[in-house]
Amino acid sequence: MRWKVAILTASDKGSKGEREDTSAQVIRELVEEELGGEIVDYRIVPDEQDEIMAAMIEMTDYFQADLVLTTGGTGLGPRDITPEATLKVVERLVPGLSEAMRSGTMSKTRRAMLSRGISGIRGRTLIINLPGNPKGVHECLVEVMDQLPHALGIIS
Ligand code: MTE
Repeated sequence: MRWKVAILTASDKGSKGEREDTSAQVIRELVEEELGGEIVDYRIVPDEQDEIMAAMIEMTDYFQADLVLTTGGTGLGPRDITPEATLKVVERLVPGLSEAMRSGTMSKTRRAMLSRGISGIRGRTLIINLPGNPKGVHECLVEVMDQLPHALGIIS
């Protein structure tokens, strides 16, 4: 089974082309090499709740991704809104994934506790919020990677 994966970057600067999206590149490499997944959609949107929601809904309902990985907008900044947008599109929460990412990576950086990212299910799609910086993306995704095939298998 080749999992269909969509990547959504929430970044004001990235959406204006003012910042190279290396975090999405980190996700792409891990998905292809560690999960054996196929990237079916990728986009960058500004930190706007409606735009993040619309992209996630299209990735789940239209592209029928098995997994949507978001990066960015999980912090405490006034514009960080990815968890709230995610909360509005998921039907059920999967707290353990986000708990594992925060607690499991805390030994690498105590800043892990500052990500408000959530995980949940919409239809047959698992949505996971990752932090914005490439190092954080790598640490958090690696932390839960071994459980993703089983999780996706149950959902789909
Ligand atoms: N988690 C891990 N594992 N590694 C990191 O480097 N960065 C933190 C945190 N989570 C980080 C991490 C930092 S510095 C912030 S501000 C928050 O994620 C939120 O990041 P975001 O607003 O870019 O999503």
